[in-house]
Amino acid sequence: MQQTKHLYLRLIQESDVDFLLSLRLNQNLNTYLNKVSNDKQQQLLWLANYKEREKNGLDYYFVIVDKKLGDIGLIRVYNIDYANKIFTWGSWVISEENRPKYAAIESLLLVYEFAFNELNLLLARFEVRNDNIDVIKLYNRFGAKYLYHDDLNNYFELTKTNYIQLKYSQYYKFLMD
Ligand SMILES: CC(C)(COP(=O)(O)OP(=O)(O)OC[C@H]1O[C@@H](n2cnc3c(N)ncnc32)[C@H](O)[C@@H]1OP(=O)(O)O)[C@@H](O)C(=O)NCCC(=O)NCCS
Repeated sequence: MQQTKHLYLRLIQESDVDFLLSLRLNQNLNTYLNKVSNDKQQQLLWLANYKEREKNGLDYYFVIVDKKLGDIGLIRVYNIDYANKIFTWGSWVISEENRPKYAAIESLLLVYEFAFNELNLLLARFEVRNDNIDVIKLYNRFGAKYLYHDDLNNYFELTKTNYIQLKYSQYYKFLMD
């Protein structure tokens, strides 16, 4: 699996259920995320179903691991359309206590490295709630092309070509060990 200077991704396991719930049920973190149930058994069932999708290459849910701090967050690649080489990424959250300055940029680099370079996809799609202003700014800084919005979300895309340009012009230092 790819790594950046401080982080790497590992596939989520059923045994990560408590970590997942601790992030997704945290009210400071879940304002702009879809709600998940606090029922652990239900989450375990969801994770078991997810593991089947993972086996079939349809969905990749990662724990973001900091080489020094350990598990710090979650990020997911889904809606993978291999025929058209398009994917969506999201379910992105990093714990407040363990959120070094580099974590946001390096986790974006990791998710793009995985989807563009390992899966050989060409177009990323992602969305953000209209009132999640800070994350909208973050996406804009990271080369996202705004597409449209609806009542809930702003929708963006990023091509592999744009990503590669950004990687070499601005972010290479985050990838180097
Ligand atoms: C989404 C999330 C992981 C982003 O992490 P974050 O640390 O808040 O991201 P920030 O925008 O503060 O960026 C981190 C640092 O990188 C810097 N940065 C951001 N974009 C940058 C860029 N393109 N180039 C260089 N540096 C950049 C920021 O300036 C910031 O540094 P600063 O604190 O000195 O200003 C985090 O806010 C979170 O878990 N939120 C809750 C869940 C959520 O809303 N998820 C998104 C759903 S779409």
